[in-house]
Formats: sequence, structure tokens, C-alpha cells
Amino acid sequence: MSELDHEINRRRAFAIIAHPDAGKTTLTEKLLLYGGAIHLAGHVRARKDRKSTKSDFMALEQERGISVSTAALQFEYDGMVMNLLDTPGHQDFSEDTYRTLMAVDSAIMLLDASRGVEPQTIKLFKICRERNLPIITFINKMDMPALEAFELLDNVEKVLGISAVPLVWPMGSGRDFKGYFDLYGKKLHRFERTVGGAHRAPEAMSGIEDASVRELMGEAEHDKFCEDVAIAGEALPAFDKEKFLRGEMTPVLFGSAVTNFGVEHLLANLKDLAPAPRPVRLDNGSELSPLENRFTGFVFKMQANMNKLHRDRVAFLRITSGKFERGMSVNVPRLGKEVKLSNPVAFFGQERTTIDTAYAGDIIGIISPGLYRLGDILCNGAAPAFHPLPRFAPDLYARIVLTDTGKTKQFKKGISELADEGVVQLFNLSEQTPLIGVIGQLQFDVFKYRLEDEYGAPIRLEPLTFECSRWISPSDVDKAGRFDKIVTDEAGNPVLLFESQFRLKSFQDQNPDVLLSMHPPA
Ligand code: G4P
Repeated sequence: MSELDHEINRRRAFAIIAHPDAGKTTLTEKLLLYGGAIHLAGHVRARKDRKSTKSDFMALEQERGISVSTAALQFEYDGMVMNLLDTPGHQDFSEDTYRTLMAVDSAIMLLDASRGVEPQTIKLFKICRERNLPIITFINKMDMPALEAFELLDNVEKVLGISAVPLVWPMGSGRDFKGYFDLYGKKLHRFERTVGGAHRAPEAMSGIEDASVRELMGEAEHDKFCEDVAIAGEALPAFDKEKFLRGEMTPVLFGSAVTNFGVEHLLANLKDLAPAPRPVRLDNGSELSPLENRFTGFVFKMQANMNKLHRDRVAFLRITSGKFERGMSVNVPRLGKEVKLSNPVAFFGQERTTIDTAYAGDIIGIISPGLYRLGDILCNGAAPAFHPLPRFAPDLYARIVLTDTGKTKQFKKGISELADEGVVQLFNLSEQTPLIGVIGQLQFDVFKYRLEDEYGAPIRLEPLTFECSRWISPSDVDKAGRFDKIVTDEAGNPVLLFESQFRLKSFQDQNPDVLLSMHPPA
């Protein structure tokens, strides 16, 4: 195997999808702990504010305790290079999340054992489904009172419509949580509460029939446990890797992130089951193999002023094929020119380190003064026919009023950079008071906060009373009703705003031939 093949095959790019509070921050810390990136998990939570982990760097997200930006963390595990992309857990950031999920090859679906599938889990799952992403399920918080294992599996299958196959079977939950039986390795992993969860969890191995296990569980519990394991083995389908890779089946693990229990098993499964960088399907019907010799990648995230000391902008690039070397020149087809990548960096919260080499499956940050945009392709040779990153029709609109006219320059720079980052979408730019459109309310707050904090441009946002919008062909704009509104996006495409979902539906009923699109024309 060539060095290139070896390096690419040992990479895993994945994200954790979860409803807020399921334990994503905790699990991220524990993965880093096991990966050796941080030796004591306590370091991550060194500050009192438990949300200020390495992947939360914006002051705003610390204030709100919501992760509004995404970061990529890299760590090694058992000869593998793991790239964990942090997806914001808040529903308001579905566009950002969507783009992040375009940059991974698999996902961990994290569930709270007492709650099962929750609303945000469903939303994120749907995005993964659209991309046929393989998903490993980790049912967390088994050290707390939990739903029955059968109930949880049933919940995943019924609500998400994916076949859920346990790889392990839990022994009790809450105070009585004793560990789990590895249904395939045929070994018992005994749970012992670790103090503070800062060290690796002890995992004692023994067989299911072991007398010490019977003693530990009590006879009645042990009988029920053996019976459940037998039923699980007989009644549930066996794990099928091909189905998993097609996104049709999810292997299920149980554990307790806060006490580290099950985390190592999860990593081992990421290594063995999760796919190496996947080929990218191109618009012309062919595929781009990650093992191809030439370097290609795309910008899936932009962030300005990540570190106030630096005041710069970072384009996060997912490498889709080949090898990257510092100082190499690459083609940026949108700009029609070659750019030398002399300062690529990896981020770890506030810290940045220079990268000399990176491979397909890795994420690199490129610092630049506003050169790149979301969705930009960087490549050697001709541009691959990548499908453009999706944009969505906003549901909320507001007029932006600059309240200090002396700050017009900062205002213009700020709104344009924040729109390039994908924080908001801009409309009616030629007018005195342009509009912004967003998917969720919190984006308004983030936009206002960042415009004032980072660009020094104070604004007032005047929300419009529209509830949804769709792109429309220029030849159809005259069909808009009295109470609908037409605005234009940054590229000059018309967008029709509706007062309500009901009005949108009645417009469509009245004008069945008009194409209303959720996405801008390509
Ligand atoms: P999130 O990023 O998905 O929102 O969740 P986060 O990790 O912040 O976890 C939410 C809460 O759940 C935290 O408690 C965390 O300690 C707890 N938690 C995470 N994993 C487990 C687990 O396996 N078992 C138990 N029992 N709890 C778990 P908190 O009280 O909100 O914060 P903290 O003061 O404990 O840090």
C-alpha cells in the first residue's frame, strides 16, 4: 500500500449528532481523553463554566451555553487519525450543521437513555439520512435511571425508521447499572463508578454465566439479564456491515460518558466499522476517489475573527482527495487563479498549530483576508464537479438599521463578511436598509452581537411579519399577491415572502405551474 493510501485509510471524519443535554460536550471530552489529546478530561472543564470546552470559542456561545460555531478536533486512537467535527446542537443553526455534515463520512448519534430519540435528534438524523451517512448509536447516561433496552431500540426503529442492532447488552441502569455484555465479543464489561470520571474507566472482562456476575447482579436480575441477552440474540437481526455503510442499519452501544464507561468501545467501533474517507459523488454522475493523487477540497465553513488577537478570517477546508503539503499552490476555480497555501492551521479551541501535511479526510483551516467563500473548491488541475453546498429559504426576515451612521464602512464590511460565513443571508442589498434572512431566531442575536462586538457597528433589527419564503423565477414575480413581498438575494434572484405557511399553500394552489424553490438557482 502506498503512503497515500495508508494515510487516507486510517482517517475517520465524523460528527456527533445529539439533542442538547444528551452529553455531547462530555462525550467529546472523553473521546479526546482516550485519544490522548488531553490526558485529564478535567483540563477541558478547567474553567467553572462547563460549556467552555475546547470547541467553544466564541464569547457568545459561552454566555448562552449553546455551541453556535463548529470546530474540528483531531486526535489519534490506536493507529487511526480521528477528525471530530463539532456540530452545533441548537436547532437554530441547521444550515451550519447541514454544511458540517457534508464534511464528514460518518456520525455518532448520541441519545440520553432516559429520553431516547428527541426532536433535535430527528432533524439531524434526517440530514444524515439524505446523505446515507453510516451512523453508530451511543446510548448515554446508563448510570442514571433509563428506559429498557428493548424500548430504546424500538424507539429508534419506530421514530427514525432505521434498523437498530445492539452490539452490547446493558446490565441494569441507574444505581443498578453493572456494565454490559458484548454480544459479538461474548465478553462482559463490568462497570465501576470512577470518581470524577477523569481517568480511564476500568473494564473487567468475564463471561455472562460467571458466578461472580450472578452474585453481583442478584439471582432474579441475572436470570432476566440472561433471558434478555438470549432474546436479543434471537429476535433482533444480526449486525450487517454493508447495511450500516449504506445508512440502513445502526449498531447500538450503551454507556456512560461522564464516567468514561463504553467510550473506548465506541472508539474501537469507529475504527473498525466507520468508513475511511468516502468517494464524493460528482454532478456529472462519476465519483472522485479520495485516493486519487491530486489534491481537492471544499470550504464548508467560514469564520471571521475566531481569535480577537488575530482578527482574521479562516476558511475550513475538508480535503476530499490526495495529499496537502504546506506551501503548495492550488487552483481556486471561482477566482480563476492559483493561490499558495503557506499558512494552513489546525485548531484546538483558541490554540492553533501549523500543519505541514494533511490527507483526504482531514480538515484544515486556511487563514486569509476574505479570499474564500463558503463552498469554494480548492484543487490541483481542473475543478471537480462538486454539488454546490445547499442554502435554504429563510423563515425569518428582519430589516437591518444602522443606528450610528458614522459606522457605515464597518457596517458594510461586517454584513458582507458575516453573510460570506453563512451566519445570515442578505437581501435587498441595494436598498438603504437591507434585509437579513435566517432559519432560526438565535441567528438574529448572533448577527447583531457579532456586528457590534467584532465590527463596532451598532444596529437595530426590525423583524418583518413573514413566516416563510421561496425562490421564484423572475418571470413569475408578477404573480405575487397583495400581501406577499418580493425581495432579491445577493445574486439578484427574486425571493417571494409569505405571511404564513397557509398563504404559501394557497399561493401554490392558485398557481400550480409556478415553481417555488427551497434553494436558490444553481
Ligand atoms: P450537551 O453538550 O449534549 O448539551 O451535554 P453535556 O455534555 O453538557 O451534558 C449535559 C449534562 O449531562 C451535564 O450535566 C453532564 O454532566 C451530564 N452527563 C453527560 N453524560 C452523562 C452520563 O453519562 N451520565 C450522567 N449521569 N450524566 C451525564 P449538568 O448537571 O448539566 O452539568 P455538570 O455540572 O455535571 O457539568
